[in-house]
Amino acid sequence: MTEENREYRQLPIGVFDSGVGGLTVAREIMRQSPNEKIVYFGDTARVPYGSKSRDTITRYSRQIVRFLQTMEVKAIVVACNTASAYALDDLEKEIDVPLIGVVRPGAKVAAEATKNGRIGVIGTEGTIGSGIYATYIRQIRPDAEVIQKACPLFVPLVEEGLWKDPVTDEIAMRYLTELIDIGIDTLILGCTHYPLIRETVAGIMGDHVRLVNPAYETARELKEMLEERGLSNPVFPSLGANPYRFFVSDGAERFKQFANSILPYGILSAKVINIEEY
Ligand code: DGL
Repeated sequence: MTEENREYRQLPIGVFDSGVGGLTVAREIMRQSPNEKIVYFGDTARVPYGSKSRDTITRYSRQIVRFLQTMEVKAIVVACNTASAYALDDLEKEIDVPLIGVVRPGAKVAAEATKNGRIGVIGTEGTIGSGIYATYIRQIRPDAEVIQKACPLFVPLVEEGLWKDPVTDEIAMRYLTELIDIGIDTLILGCTHYPLIRETVAGIMGDHVRLVNPAYETARELKEMLEERGLSNPVFPSLGANPYRFFVSDGAERFKQFANSILPYGILSAKVINIEEY
């Protein structure tokens, strides 16, 4: 390994999302690739993405990618399902650092895991409306029946901290009954926030339905990709080096509180930047 190559491999991974949800993806990257540094951007001023148009989300995503590139990242993870659904294809053509979205890894695992060919997908209105999970699933399993259901109330419930609450149980029951009736055996948690209510969803769906967490699958795919391309960081970050940096477009304090409720260690700060400048 040349010195230059060794230095390049120590550059951070850029991870972005519409807000706090992508922290579920960052958390998996921290667990699975502890050597990797992360620069996280949460677009807290412009969240939610799930109800906005393709053009708007693509414009936002471009700005964020430009910001991350100023931070000299060696790869970018589009940790938001909606942004992956709408913007990933365009972004891939425009930049030369490797990009990974959360949709394809989740779709692949679900297509491989199903036995009866009936796969459920839950997500934001944008992700479900795009039909992107079904498209990827059918590339691997053309005969799959993909039942998609938008669950727009889950995001605010999770952000209110109602992860285990009768209100969430009730809403989940309404959303998921249709999927139970159809007899799916695999369900993709196709939104960054849903892994945080995994237990509620699992309790309703029952043990015979396999839940696929795209955050976990994406972190796994990222690790493999970095290894294959000779990009993984050979050096464990030294004590006090602060390997994780967080940026947001608004509300740093609220972001910090949420981050501290789900990350395996306390974050000290999140910096507000003006993303419209990028
Ligand atoms: N991060 C979004 C997603 O995974 C959910 C929140 C939002 O609508 O912005 O689709």
